[in-house]
Amino acid sequence: MLQFTVNPTTCIQCGSCCNDCPTGIIHMGEETPFIPADQEEACYRCQHCLAICPTGALSILGLHPENSTPLASHFPEPENMAALIKGRRSVRHYAQDDLAPELIADLLETAWHAPTGVNARQVRFTVLDTRKKLQQFREIVLKGLAEMEQSHTLPAHMERFSLFVQAWHEEKKDIIFRDAPHLLIASAPKDAPTPKPDCLIALSYFELYAHSCQVATVWAGLAYLAIEALLPRLRPLLALPENHQLGYAILFGKAAVHYTRGVQHHNAHIHHAKW
Ligand SMILES: Cc1cc2nc3c(=O)[nH]c(=O)nc-3n(C[C@H](O)[C@H](O)[C@H](O)COP(=O)(O)O)c2cc1C
Repeated sequence: MLQFTVNPTTCIQCGSCCNDCPTGIIHMGEETPFIPADQEEACYRCQHCLAICPTGALSILGLHPENSTPLASHFPEPENMAALIKGRRSVRHYAQDDLAPELIADLLETAWHAPTGVNARQVRFTVLDTRKKLQQFREIVLKGLAEMEQSHTLPAHMERFSLFVQAWHEEKKDIIFRDAPHLLIASAPKDAPTPKPDCLIALSYFELYAHSCQVATVWAGLAYLAIEALLPRLRPLLALPENHQLGYAILFGKAAVHYTRGVQHHNAHIHHAKW
């Protein structure tokens, strides 16, 4: 049941909800818009009808418009957004402190608003939320990699991982986890409409929002490979559901470095299609 209700005294019959509904199941009735019972199943719960109604007359899924964040003038100025996108850097030096649990919760809750294919909203965040947990996980990963190296079971194209093991044992240099305090892994059910993009988009949103909160990040490609390709037996340790595809991983925490200026990338590769 969608619990689709429209207040007839505040509805101005503008038709915005009908026009914007991605599955076209909202129809204008004599007094107010309605969804025929036999079309309810097609709703994919995006709440666009609730978001677009100019008078706040519409409620769906038991959600009331007055509980939504008003949007007028709540977006950052373009130059702020551009500065964030261009000024974000991959941070590989972290302070020792853990982030406050409330801050981590806010970062995740915000990132969770990222779009997902067919509004599936199935992305799962697995978080190592303390430095202690990540240190323990690093020990396990490095032990597993060292065993693979000794038993010559590291695939040829992954041999560089033996250098990372060596760097850790000889210099306590953590190339895989960058000695960050926290690790975030995004996964989604394999049978979701678009599991991989959903995870990557959620992590991208997480990264940008994190930097706007003075939280540093670096995409954890090596950690991802270690878990996904080399040591999948560690998945249960992270309670990654068996039916989930691993999306990707990001390390995050308080930066121990500060960037004074942006970098200067070459021009974007842009092709304007001609026909
Ligand atoms: C998919 C992906 C995986 C990455 N994996 C790692 C990694 O495992 N370790 C690391 O230090 N940096 C990693 N990076 C960071 C890139 O090296 C970095 O984005 C690039 O050098 C440009 O630097 P910038 O992000 O500061 O602009 C990764 C980036 C991406 C997008």
